[in-house]
Amino acid sequence: MIPKEIIDLITDTARIDEVVGDFVVLKKRGSNLIGLCPFHHEKTPSFNVNPARNIYKCFGCGKGGDAVNFIMEHETASYPEALRFLAEKYNIEVQEEERSPERTSQDLLRESLLSATSFASQYFMSQLSETDEGKSVGLSYFREREIADRSVQQFQLGYSPDSWSAFTDAAIAAGYKLEYLEKTGLTISKDGRHYDRFRGRVIFPIHSVSGKVIAFGGRTLKSDPKQPKYVNSPESEIYHKSNVLYGIFFAKRAIVQKEECYLVEGYTDVISMHQSGIENVVASSGTALTVEQIRLISRYTKNITVLYDGDPAGIKASLRGIDLILEQGLNVRVVLFPEGEDPDSFARSHSNSEVLTYLHENATDFIRFKTSLLLQDVQNDPIGKTKLIHEIVNTIALIPDAIMRSSYLKECSTLMDMSEQVLLAELNKILRARFRKQDDAPELAQRDELLPSEETDQIEEDYIHLHEVNIIRLMLNYGNEEIVVDEIHDHGIEDLTRKVMSVIANELLLDEIYPGDPVLRRIFEEFVYLVKNNIDYTADRFVRHEDHEIRHVAADLLTSRHNLSENWVNKGITVKSEKDTLKYAVLSNINTLKTGRIEQLLLENRERIKKADERDMDDLLAHHQELETLKAQLAGYRGIVILK
Ligand code: CTP
Ligand code: MN
Repeated sequence: MIPKEIIDLITDTARIDEVVGDFVVLKKRGSNLIGLCPFHHEKTPSFNVNPARNIYKCFGCGKGGDAVNFIMEHETASYPEALRFLAEKYNIEVQEEERSPERTSQDLLRESLLSATSFASQYFMSQLSETDEGKSVGLSYFREREIADRSVQQFQLGYSPDSWSAFTDAAIAAGYKLEYLEKTGLTISKDGRHYDRFRGRVIFPIHSVSGKVIAFGGRTLKSDPKQPKYVNSPESEIYHKSNVLYGIFFAKRAIVQKEECYLVEGYTDVISMHQSGIENVVASSGTALTVEQIRLISRYTKNITVLYDGDPAGIKASLRGIDLILEQGLNVRVVLFPEGEDPDSFARSHSNSEVLTYLHENATDFIRFKTSLLLQDVQNDPIGKTKLIHEIVNTIALIPDAIMRSSYLKECSTLMDMSEQVLLAELNKILRARFRKQDDAPELAQRDELLPSEETDQIEEDYIHLHEVNIIRLMLNYGNEEIVVDEIHDHGIEDLTRKVMSVIANELLLDEIYPGDPVLRRIFEEFVYLVKNNIDYTADRFVRHEDHEIRHVAADLLTSRHNLSENWVNKGITVKSEKDTLKYAVLSNINTLKTGRIEQLLLENRERIKKADERDMDDLLAHHQELETLKAQLAGYRGIVILK
């Protein structure tokens, strides 16, 4: 419990512009400050800070409140955590009252351990900069590695003298109990004797998110292969390896500002990147990435870029880490460094702008990365390729967001030159199997293959929704454009020049396909009205519509970020503009929606089959066959297939 008067003191002292300013770049606008909202993605600032009233408000996503609310929201902190956070920032001492006895003893232990590590860190730093041994051995090592003095200071690098117990002796003389030195692993006791764990090593302290030293990594200076290169602190009450990322304290602000986190392997990678001016970087410290570490990053950004040195074995071993990131719902990109280079060496041998350009130009989304990595092994090997597709789709299946899944599926389909429908079928199979496994009901697994699980229904629904959005987007952006379509009739195939909006409207009406979303449906119906009355379409009609929901959706869909091919252009791959491939875009979208409609009809028919009498069965099964045939036709044909 934090006493009321302390809470008041904290809320009175905390200045909203300073608190927000730690995370958001703010610019002056009149008497207010504005910036890009940290709570939702935006390109033009709608995040407002009002210093006079000491509050913030985002006009984009609606979030708002005072400094405490901001920290709670931004740091995903509880109310007392947010108060403590602010108290620390403003050096307000928080004396808590009425704490339970267990908490107190636990806190006491933690505090004792933290004071031991804090002492150790100070000791190692002063050894480095103030003793002859430290200067001639430790500091000269850092200089040789081009670690600048300011980095030595910022990261609080140190040196532990090459003697059995110099540190332990100094700590005990300063009043630190042996028990705490042992619990933090600084001292190793054996047969009644005490040794310094890090003796003769340069020291990289590991900081908690709030900047406290909780552990150390010590690098040997000898090239003796029998010596481990690094010795690290063991697990303790204050150091849970799997929850910690090296450098997070120095990176968190830049991560929020850049909306991206670079993930590297080692201490030196983090430091060299900082020296190059890239601060949004953390290291997993050579161990496999954990879920907790990913969650830690996800408090600051949803975008992780993994930086690999060019060692293929290491890369393959770390693919599991990528899968974990995806499973947590984050976006992953990957940058591969040239053979023999790691982020540390690359950052040291290139200018800041060269490093940034390299990262920019070589960041590949994971699907492309994994596909091209594994595709090398299976060139011209159809069985290998099938396995690879399975492998990639398995990874896509980990992504919790259905819309993201389907856009990756699209990319995979392009990269592997495989039909999207086939991949979707594969994806659904995996999801269905996983769903059943979770359900842990053996009889369910044996149920009729005709019955899709609820999970699959949801995916298909999302997938259809995405295509409904896209078809309306095509109407809004290219409604008046003309395309040549060939229609199949009883008497043959006919070439017709028609407007995009009329092709879409007619095709969907014919098969009674209407967007499920009410706003999309209203837009669609208005297009139908335009087509039927032969009225030309202008975007203004919707952007200035009296229905504000229509205005909103139309404005959104008319902006270019919905242009699917745009991402590919950014990655330096030449693709035709959407306008060039308009016919294909329109027809494939219509076909997808028709496929969705068929799935729906199939589902209804299956329900009937379940309940039907023997005498209706033949008809229903025949209908099932018909629908399946149409579906297959749709999957293979890139023109128009008429359902009825
Ligand atoms: N690591 C470790 N123990 C080892 C080797 C490595 O804990 N025996 C961890 C360290 O956190 C290290 C990271 O794995 O930073 C990456 O390993 P590596 O690339 O070998 O080390 P660097 O930090 O790059 O060290 P250097 O460049 O000095 O060789
Ligand atoms: Mn290295």
